[in-house]
Amino acid sequence: MQKVTCIAPVNIAVIKYWGKSDEDLVLPLNDSLSGTLSTDFMCAKTTISTSPALEVNKFWLNGIEQSFENERLLNCLKEVKRRANQTLPHLNWNISICSENNFPTAAGLASSAAGYACLVSALAALYEIEGDISAIARRGSGSACRSVYGGWVQWCKGASPTGEDSIAKQIAPASHWPQMRVLILVVNDERKKYSSTSGMKRSVETSELLQYRATKIVPQRIEAITKAIINKDFQAFAQITMEDSNQFHAVCLDTFPPCVYMNDTSHAIVDVVHAYNDFKKSNKVAYTFDAGPNACLYLLDSEVEEVLSVIDYVFPPVVNSEGYLKGIPLSKKAITEELKAVFEAKRQNFGALKYVIHTRIGDGPKTLTNPEDHLVDEMGLPK
Ligand code: DP6
Repeated sequence: MQKVTCIAPVNIAVIKYWGKSDEDLVLPLNDSLSGTLSTDFMCAKTTISTSPALEVNKFWLNGIEQSFENERLLNCLKEVKRRANQTLPHLNWNISICSENNFPTAAGLASSAAGYACLVSALAALYEIEGDISAIARRGSGSACRSVYGGWVQWCKGASPTGEDSIAKQIAPASHWPQMRVLILVVNDERKKYSSTSGMKRSVETSELLQYRATKIVPQRIEAITKAIINKDFQAFAQITMEDSNQFHAVCLDTFPPCVYMNDTSHAIVDVVHAYNDFKKSNKVAYTFDAGPNACLYLLDSEVEEVLSVIDYVFPPVVNSEGYLKGIPLSKKAITEELKAVFEAKRQNFGALKYVIHTRIGDGPKTLTNPEDHLVDEMGLPK
């Protein structure tokens, strides 16, 4: 039996992908750009095993067996095998895929990007594929192509109808801007959201604003935010990030019927960030929201303690809630009297946030070589 185990990161877009020109090939209407988050605190992990004794293909996600007849999964597998060395003896053996996330999927945090990037990385290792695999990960989930690289990553929409040039490329490694931090504010919200896939399909069908955004706005924004990242210009980076998040959600509301992803707590977070930046007289924090109510804040390490003191003050955690602050450890600081005066009227009820993850920009997928890291036993079954 052969086994391969990989981990792959989550990414958070600052210029959003929303809308496909080809559903099957997963070709986007516009370029997008994201930061890859450290795998230390959030990642997907996948073990793929293969042996001539395996009678059928198997797939487990977070301990629950899934159907293998999943079009996106099969597309990834087909593409990897097409590029594999055709003389490999194990190329035609069945496989067992066992995948897990080390962060709660119930929180509604985008896990498909890390999941498919991880699946494709493990398949690529198993079938000894060289070169760029982002175009394969894209077939699993569009945003997954950006999780194939660390640091700051652009997904270029490409021009070819076959999608061969619709690939991700790293514009700067994680080490380029080591001060960058990310706070993920997990909003307490039980509502089941419609998937990105169905939401964006409806936007393509009904939103004129989406067409305008994709053709007239995003190209300049990609150029401007790339420059801001290269120059480590946080002021410009934050401005563009917030504008793009707002425009993405404007497109969602311009969709008919509308896709409503942000809730009252999300809007309260937007308000707090603007009030903080006004108080500081420059952009010190940037918010961005994906297809759900959770906020992702980009900020520099020098701001983290103070921003968290404000967040804790406005969104008081349920007292004594253990594990509320996850990720990079931090000594908590009390809010200053001056900031208290600014934010007093904005205070929310206890427990509006479930927890907070403090993380940073990190590297791309990795293959784990320690046998203890495998998620399956000698039979190819989850441990
Ligand atoms: C709002 O990549 O999940 O997170 O390609 O249909 O699988 P599919 O969609 P998906 O969409 C992500 C949308 C987003 C923005 C982004 O990550 O760029």
